[in-house]
Amino acid sequence: LARIEVKLTDIPEGKNMTFKWRGKPLFIKHRTPDEIETERNVDLSTLRDPEHDSDRTKRPEWLVVIGVCTHLGCVPIANAGDWGGYYCPCHGSHYDASGRIRKGPAPLNLEVPEHSFSDEDTLVVG
Ligand code: FES
Repeated sequence: LARIEVKLTDIPEGKNMTFKWRGKPLFIKHRTPDEIETERNVDLSTLRDPEHDSDRTKRPEWLVVIGVCTHLGCVPIANAGDWGGYYCPCHGSHYDASGRIRKGPAPLNLEVPEHSFSDEDTLVVG
């Protein structure tokens, strides 16, 4: 399917859920207030692929990323790694709770796909 709709009330705060979209895993993470604050305050000069959290999320509580490691394409594990975002076990890339690469061989942040909110509780990806 080119587009998917996700009912956000099914994803509790603090959880990440994996969907399938255009043949790839799609991660949707319901971030906690602590995670949002941490990611919003990251000094961009410390990042390999500098992007502000607010440019990666449309609503701060929802992170939407493609679940494909930017190194060689493995599927990272959610809520894992040294930055509490995602961890790719293939060669040890750590991503933060904004999906930004923080450590390991991956060169780029996890990709944020085109997405929008059609109402308070519905996310549309694609
Ligand atoms: Fe993820 Fe190599 S594919 S670290």
